[in-house]
Order: sequence, then structure tokens, then C-alpha cells
Amino acid sequence: MAADASILQSSYQLGSLTLPNRVIMAPMTRNRADEETMAPTDLMVEYYRQRASAGLIITEGTQISQQGQGYQQTPGIYSEAQVEGWSKITDAVHKAGGRIFAQLWHVGRVSHITLQPGNNWPVAPSALPAQTKTYVNNGFVTVSAPRALQTEEIPGIVRDFLNAAENAKRAGFDGVELHGANGYLIDQFLHDGTNHRHDAYGGPVENRVRFAVEVTEAVLRVFEPSRVGFRISPASVTNDVRERNPAEVFGYLVKCLDALNIGYVHCNEMTGPDSGDFDFKALRRLFRRTWIANFGYTRDRAAQAIAEGDADLVAFGKPFLANPDLPMRLARNAPLNTPEQATFYGGAEKGYTDYPALAEA
Ligand SMILES: Cc1cc2nc3c(=O)[nH]c(=O)nc-3n(C[C@H](O)[C@H](O)[C@H](O)COP(=O)(O)O)c2cc1C
Repeated sequence: MAADASILQSSYQLGSLTLPNRVIMAPMTRNRADEETMAPTDLMVEYYRQRASAGLIITEGTQISQQGQGYQQTPGIYSEAQVEGWSKITDAVHKAGGRIFAQLWHVGRVSHITLQPGNNWPVAPSALPAQTKTYVNNGFVTVSAPRALQTEEIPGIVRDFLNAAENAKRAGFDGVELHGANGYLIDQFLHDGTNHRHDAYGGPVENRVRFAVEVTEAVLRVFEPSRVGFRISPASVTNDVRERNPAEVFGYLVKCLDALNIGYVHCNEMTGPDSGDFDFKALRRLFRRTWIANFGYTRDRAAQAIAEGDADLVAFGKPFLANPDLPMRLARNAPLNTPEQATFYGGAEKGYTDYPALAEA
């Protein structure tokens, strides 16, 4: 029997934050930041304001440093201009009755020298190039080969995460989500296919999880635990990551995050060619607080996941991109606008702030 979809409209207590519904806006890169400063623009203010009815908005990936940038026109949160731009967004979302977390991002090896400080090589746990593309100068290009981080450089990156969390607080964010998913830097440390290090950050699982834990501890110095989330994609091979034993690695990581008392784990359930049977439910049971599920959820599947205890909240990506009033549409079981792929990454208003709300449609 189908679960009662009204559960999506029930309020939820995320630590000290009351969410009016369970419909979360998933983080989505839209490549519309200012091309010189990587600061959020006024158009971005409008985009997020339109989506303030989400139980919680999680912003697009936001780089913690110039080194952490991997694509054209993604916003940062390391300069004053960027903090100012984000302040306008958090202000507009709060005035519209919403709540918003910043997704903090370092891409690691998924970058291109033209984006890097001094046109240097991107950095990664190990000097292993990714078989993947990035988007720069309005075109797709193969990512640049990375260099391996020296052990002494790692505390500097942890500090960049701390600094970004401080900036997020100053910009008025309600909390932060660490981007530990989709094959970016934190994920590159976790996977044995991308981490061939011989120091304290490589080798056994406890070592490969160390960077994720240190970054989490750093942002916990800025935000109370319930205001910190961590995103994982344990079965995904996005950006060419590979892991022989994902259940072990992500089980260990989730237990560490549980011990650190953070507010939520956000699990992107994308699967790769060999991971069809990954047990997401078992992973969920290792974490005592809030679990956000994501990937291809519909209204009915979301309601069922919550009713069965497999998730507390469900994040929607493409449906939220195309439907600024998604919670209301799901409540009424109303038809949804179709997301237009051609305008996902880059551009202006078209396919960004011009998707109609129900009343206008
Ligand atoms: C345009 C676009 C941009 C995305 N950017 C990000 C991102 O910045 N950070 C992230 O963690 N996931 C990102 N994702 C993945 C989404 O958060 C989500 O996991 C994915 O869309 C699957 O959810 P859905 O089926 O509800 O769309 C992006 C997805 C899309 C479509």
C-alpha cells in the first residue's frame, strides 16, 4: 500500500531548527556566480528566495578557496565580496520564511589549471588523474592532472574549511553541509582507488577517513553539532572514484560522524555499475540522528522512505530546480514542471528563475 504522502508536510525538529516540512532542496551547481569574483549575484538571490518554502535549502557546492574550485562560475565563500553576496541570499531566504545551509566544497583533482591559483596543478590525495571532464571557458575539457598533497599541506586545507564555516556564519547561514560526496576532495581521500598515500591519511580505513573527520571537527568549532551535515555518495563512481569495500569505509565513516554528534548525514543513493546491491538501509542504522535520503525520489517513494524509517527527510534535486514551490505541489499532488537540462549549468534567468510557481502555471 502506498504511504500517506501527508507525512512530507509534517514538521521536523533538526536539532534547534524547526523545519516546516520534510522536502529538502538538494545542493545543485548552477554556474551563475560573478565571473570575476565568484561572488553570488542578485539573480542567485532571486533563485534561492523563490525556493524558500523548502524544509531546508542546501546551497550549490561552494568552494572554500580558489584551489577548491573545479568549474567555471561556481560561487566561493573565502572573500569578503562572496560573504556579502551570500548575506543577501540568506537574508532573502529568511525574510521569505526559509532556512538555508551552505554546502562547503573542495573539488580536489576535479579541476583545471586555468581555475587554479597561479595556473598550478590541482591537488589530490594522490597524483592520479580522473577520467572525467570539467567545464571552463564555456566548454567541456578533460580535467588537469593533479599533484599529490604533501602531508604538511593538509592542515592548511582543514583551516580553509574552518575559515569557510566562519564566513558562512557571518553570512547568516543556519548551518553548513560538508561535501563529502561525488568524487571530490573529501571523497577522494575515502576511496582506495584515489588514495594511494603512505602517511597518516592513506592506507587503512581509519587513515582514509581521517581527513573527513578533521574537516568535520574544524567546522564543529564554528557551528553547534545540529547545524552541521555531511553528504556522502557511498555507491557512486562519479568523477572516477573506486572503492573495493564501500560498506566498510562508509560504515566506519558514518560511525565516526555519529560519534561527533553532527546533525545529519545526507546520503546520495546513486549507484555505479558494480554497486547495485549496496545496503543503504544498513548504513542508515549506524547513525542515530537525522538521515536525509536523495536520488530519484518521487512523492510516493519519499513518503514511503520516511514512513518506514529509512529516512527522516528527503532531498529533491531536479524536481526542486524546476519547481520553486515543490513542497506545495507535492502536498497537492499537482503536476510538476519538467527540468530543462540545457540550462542547468551556466546562463542567466532562462531555466533558472523563470520556472513558474503553481499559481502562475
Ligand atoms: C544541475 C545539478 C547540479 C548538481 N550539483 C551538485 C552539487 O553542487 N553538490 C552536490 O552534492 N550534488 C549536486 N548535484 C546532485 C544533486 O544534489 C542530486 O544528488 C541529484 O540531482 C539526484 O537527485 P534528484 O534525482 O532528486 O535530482 C547536482 C545535480 C544537478 C542536476
